[in-house]
This record gives sequence, structure tokens and C-alpha cells, in this order.
Amino acid sequence: MKKVLILGCGGFVGSHLTERLLAAGDVEIEGWDISSEKISQHLGDPRLRFHESYIDAETTWTELEPIIQDVDAVYSLAAVCTPAQYVSSPVKTIQSNFIDAYALIDLCAKHRKWLIHTSTCEVYGRTLSSYVKADDYDDLDLYEQREDETPLVMGPTSNNRWSYATAKQLFERYMLAHHQENGLPYTIVRPYNWFGPKMDFIPGRDGEGVPRVLACFMTALLDHQPMQLVDGGDAWRTITYIDDAIDALQAMLEQPKGSQNQIFNVGNRKDGEVTMKELAHLMREIAAEITGRPEYKDHPIEEVSSGKFYGEGYEDCDRRVPDISKAQSRLGWEPKTSLRETLRITMEHYFGKYGSSAA
Ligand code: UGA
Repeated sequence: MKKVLILGCGGFVGSHLTERLLAAGDVEIEGWDISSEKISQHLGDPRLRFHESYIDAETTWTELEPIIQDVDAVYSLAAVCTPAQYVSSPVKTIQSNFIDAYALIDLCAKHRKWLIHTSTCEVYGRTLSSYVKADDYDDLDLYEQREDETPLVMGPTSNNRWSYATAKQLFERYMLAHHQENGLPYTIVRPYNWFGPKMDFIPGRDGEGVPRVLACFMTALLDHQPMQLVDGGDAWRTITYIDDAIDALQAMLEQPKGSQNQIFNVGNRKDGEVTMKELAHLMREIAAEITGRPEYKDHPIEEVSSGKFYGEGYEDCDRRVPDISKAQSRLGWEPKTSLRETLRITMEHYFGKYGSSAA
């Protein structure tokens, strides 16, 4: 029987992880989040103890210490992770991703408890290719992201886009510092655009603000509004199905020898890469297939500047190509789900949940 603490068990990733670990059987979970909506079907399970609370440094020391002493591993998944907020609310972004969170590292280090932290591929920032203007990406060394080699390349501090990436970077550095000085056992995960049911929210239906690209495009399809391509939609992303990502998080827990004291990229290198323009076109096609409404194939797409869409201080990551050889060799992990299948499953969930009215 394994005992784990999951901080952020009610979020997108946390809800999928909680469900998976409960389904796998032999586990006891202490789950913390500000909302339990995404895991409501599991609240009656005696193996899950849910605590509805925001975690800051004070609650970490007062409420989490006895729990941390009692568990085998801590998953830390809670984060503010939508780029619109990095630009509009950089204080909240830095606060939630570092200031309110770093006490967890102190506490895990004190009790030598294994901390499995979900960081972000955004710590790499932009590619070196984009800075040397090698736009054709002809040198893999200038854009492939390797956990223990690639430099982290961010824009100036005046661009608040990087508030999140730098907070996450400092969190990683603080974990590594505690490992070196105090023997903290750690695993750092860098997710590459994990997509799936229950991601983010649909503005006006179950949340307010600007979510990430999947939910933005879905909202446009559901509301019969144009899909908006920021700065022409030329940025690339590597999209990874949430169940494949959860395979990796589960494998880490099951294989401590392979996963401890390592950083892992978790992304669908094989066939998940797409530009935002291609993503919009693909989502239109799949919307037509799912709903049986061929008019979706011609759903309007319009271009918008990043200044207008996000406000001042936005800067994009041009491309994210993960080297995943470490996850393959140390965990035996491989993404299995194609981009098309990922989108089909995810979009079916959104159309099922929110309906699709005729245009
Ligand atoms: C975000 C987070 O910052 C990362 O930490 C996280 O790892 C990542 O999401 C993730 O989902 O894993 P990003 O990919 O830039 O990073 O966020 P999105 O909002 O999903 O944007 C992706 C791209 O789509 C960007 O180029 C953005 O400008 C564009 N976009 C977004 C559009 O073209 N239209 C929209 O309506 C929204």
C-alpha cells in the first residue's frame, strides 16, 4: 500500500492522476485543492481524504507537516498556468508558483520525503534558433530541449510573460539546492501541452478569463465565434494526451530507482507537433466529424496581434521539441496516442458537456 499526498488533486492533471491511482488499487491519497468539482465522483472513496484549502507557506507548515511525515511521496501539481494571467497578474503568478509554494520544498527536505513536482516545458523559454534567427530550424542542437543540457532562454524581465517560467525555474533550482545540501529526494516533470477532457474552463460557462489554446478554440467553436490565431498562429506546440502523461507520472511512483533525482520531459515527440494554425484547421475538421455538421469545416478563423489578445508584455515560445530519451530509457515510457485521437477524445468531452447548437 502506497500513501501519497497530491497537492492540486482537483485540477486538470490532479483529477486525472487521482482517478488513475484510485483505479490502480493499492493506494491512500491525501488530496488538497480549492475545488473538488473535477473529482466529485471519488469523494465517497475511503482511500481519498480531500482537504478543501489553498496552500501557502503558513498552511504548509501548520497543516501539511504531519501528513508529509506519513506519506511515501508528494505530488505537487497546483499552479496558475494560463499565459493570459502571466501577463495580467504577474504578482499572483509568482506568488502561487513560488512564494506560496517553496515552503513545501523545505518541509520535504526536512523529512527527506520524495517530492514529485510538475514544472513546465516553459522553463526552456524560447529556442536558441529563434534568437539567432535560424527560423528554418536546421540545427537540432539549437532547438531540441534536453533536460540536463539545454540553456534556458527567456526575454527581458520587462516582459511579464516570463513571470511564470522564472518562478517555475526558481522552484526547480530550490529543489536541486535542497537535494545537494540536505538530501531531498526529487523528481521534476516538464509537461509539454498536455491536452484532455477537463482541461481549463469555457469562459462564460464555467469560468472567466482567457484559458489556454484548446479551450479558446473550443469556446469559439461552441459559441460560433471566429477562432483567433495569435500573431498568425505560426508558433509550434507538442501536444500530449493526458492519459499518456499520467502513465509517466504513475511510472515515476512505481519505479523510484529510475525516477528519483531526475528531470523528465514528458511530451509527444513522435507525432504531437503542430503549429497553432494547423491546430485550428484540424479542430474544425474534427468538430465537423463529431457533430455531423459539415459547416464546421469552414468555421471562421481570424488573425489577431498578441498585443491585442494578451496585452503588453506577452512574448511567445516559438517551438517546443522535447528530447524524451530519458523517460524512455529510465521509465519505459512512450506516448501512445496520436494528435488526431487526442483531439477527438478531448473535443467529444467538450461537445458532450457543453452541447453544440446549430450556427
Ligand atoms: C502554457 C503554459 O504556460 C505552459 O507552462 C504549459 O506547459 C503549457 O501551456 C501547457 O499547456 O502545457 P502555452 O502553450 O504558450 O503555454 O499556452 P497556450 O495558451 O496553450 O498557447 C499556445 C499557443 O497558442 C500560443 O502561441 C498562443 O499565442 C496561441 N493561441 C492561444 C492562439 O493562437 N489563439 C488562442 O485563442 C489562444
